[in-house]
Amino acid sequence: MDSSHPEAKSHEPVLLEEVLSLLDIKPGQVIVDATLGSGGHAREILKHLGPQGRLIGIDQDPEALKRTQENLRDFPQIEFIAGNFSKLDQVLITLNIHGIHAVILDVGLSTEQLEEARRGFSFLKEGPLDMRMDPGSGLTARDLVNDLSQKELEKLFRTYGEERWAKRIAGTICTHRGSKPIETTADLVQLIKKAVPRPFHFGARHPATRVFQALRIRVNQELESLQGALPKAFEALFPGGRLVVISFHSLEDRIVKEAFRAWAREGKAQLLTRKPIRPSEAETQRNPRSRSARLRAIEKK
Ligand SMILES: C[S@@+](CC[C@H](N)C(=O)[O-])C[C@H]1O[C@@H](n2cnc3c(N)ncnc32)[C@H](O)[C@@H]1O
Repeated sequence: MDSSHPEAKSHEPVLLEEVLSLLDIKPGQVIVDATLGSGGHAREILKHLGPQGRLIGIDQDPEALKRTQENLRDFPQIEFIAGNFSKLDQVLITLNIHGIHAVILDVGLSTEQLEEARRGFSFLKEGPLDMRMDPGSGLTARDLVNDLSQKELEKLFRTYGEERWAKRIAGTICTHRGSKPIETTADLVQLIKKAVPRPFHFGARHPATRVFQALRIRVNQELESLQGALPKAFEALFPGGRLVVISFHSLEDRIVKEAFRAWAREGKAQLLTRKPIRPSEAETQRNPRSRSARLRAIEKK
């Protein structure tokens, strides 16, 4: 999710028509929405599933799950599961489900998570440097900026954020934290601004965009979770079943592309999207946060 646009306040499902068309839902099927979020995709999926269908809605953020449970209370076909989608196989075993017809993964952050200052995701709102989607999970962004070595921070900002000023930012953080720990989003933004040369403060993106993105990806182990989830989702599909993934970062898209191409090469799947589908001009106008989305889909043979 692109965090540089503060306009939208509630989450709008990205590429909704394309998702529905590619999922190709039939009444009575079993579908997994592994990134339930605010339930935007789920609500439309539920309308296509009919009374005999079953939707498993997974999210690792208990706040999102609670809110969406309330919003979707008119749909008895949905079951809400708190957890990481990388454990999809275990979720299905627990529910005694032996095969599914389609999975949607819409990875990244929801607007509600970004807008909530106390979650620490936004460089535009002062809050604790947390950034955990699952508040019960491991390290926070605060732990990383205060405890990683200068070299590790530089590598993190460069690899996950493609940040050109990675070295300077890591250096400024390490100099500063020697006297006082970095506690809030505002503390970190201030240090990033100190490190990034002034002419680069006024580009299309806020100068903290890439560092915040890098920290969030690392805190939530986003690439590892995606890498772990794809084979489990594919394995669980019935022949003819569909896997649809929306990602917002080139490293995520590469993981999806490589997994899908490997299954297609091995004759196990057919690519439904040769190139990733991008939001239309109209969608990015209406919902600027959709602009970096890339959708890929396959059908299992
Ligand atoms: C972009 S939002 C999904 C929005 C949703 N499709 C909608 O229309 O409202 C991503 C959601 O996935 C959740 N999420 C991200 N990574 C996850 C993971 N590894 N396991 C479970 N949930 C995850 C986030 O907490 C967030 O609520």
